[in-house]
Amino acid sequence: MPRVGIVLGSGLGGLADDLEDAVAIPFADLPGWPEATAPGHIGRLLLGRLAGVPVVLLQGRFHLYEGNDPGLVVQPVLLFRRLGAEIVVLTNAAGGVDPTFGAGTLMVIADHLNLTGRTPLLGPNADGIGARFTDLTEAWSPRLRAALKVAGAAEGVDLAEGVYAGLLGPQYETPAEVRMLRGLGADAVGMSTVLECIAARWAGLEVCGVTLITNAGAGYSGEPLTHDEVLAAGAEAGPRLTRVIRRFVSELGG
Ligand code: HPA
Repeated sequence: MPRVGIVLGSGLGGLADDLEDAVAIPFADLPGWPEATAPGHIGRLLLGRLAGVPVVLLQGRFHLYEGNDPGLVVQPVLLFRRLGAEIVVLTNAAGGVDPTFGAGTLMVIADHLNLTGRTPLLGPNADGIGARFTDLTEAWSPRLRAALKVAGAAEGVDLAEGVYAGLLGPQYETPAEVRMLRGLGADAVGMSTVLECIAARWAGLEVCGVTLITNAGAGYSGEPLTHDEVLAAGAEAGPRLTRVIRRFVSELGG
C-alpha cells in the first residue's frame, strides 16, 4: 500500500529509475485511461519503493490542453487515495514569473492561482470522497513544505518558494500576460497541477509540490520559448529535484 503518491511532470520522469521492486503499468492498460500524449510524458503508473517507502508514481499526467475533462485530469490523485496514499507530491515544469527565477530554479509551491476557468468539483458531489465546499486555506501543506526545505538543505539543493499560476495552455503566455500574472501575485506559470491539488484536498490528501522553472517567462529574455528548452532544463535540473524528493520520502518513512 503506497504511503505517498508522486506526479512527475515534463522531463522529470527520472525518479522512476530509483524505484525498487517496481511494477509499471502503461496508462492505456488502466480501465478508462487514455494514453498520455504530451511530449516528455511517458504515461505509466509505477508502484514500488523509494528509499524503502512504498510509493506510487505517475510518470506523465493528463492535461486540460489535450482536451481532457477535469474529471480525467484528477483521476490519478483519486487513484492514489484509493490505493491508500495519504500524501501527494505534485511536480511540474513552469515559466518564471518572478524575474529572479531563471531556468533551473526549483520552487516549492506555497500556494496557487487556478486560472484555468475549470474545477474538478463541478456537478453532483461524491460525498463518500469529500465534502461539497473544499477549504483551500492550507491547500499546500505547511508541514510538508517545511519537510521539503529540510530535504533540500540536507541534499545541498537550493529551493525557492512561491505561487504557481495554472493556465489552460497549450500556448505559452504573451509578455503582457506574464506581467499580468506578476501583478496577480504569481511567481511561476504552467499548465497543470492546480486541479490535481484541488481534487486531492477534496479527497482529504495532504499536498505538496515542487516546480522546476525551465525558462524565464515570456518577454523577459527577448527570445522565443520552445518546448525543447523546457525539456532540456528538466534534464539538467531533474536529478536535483529527484534527490530532494527521495530524501523527503525517506524522512517521512522514518
Ligand atoms: N509557461 C507555461 N507553461 C510552461 C512554461 C511557460 O513559460 N514553461 C514550461 N511550462
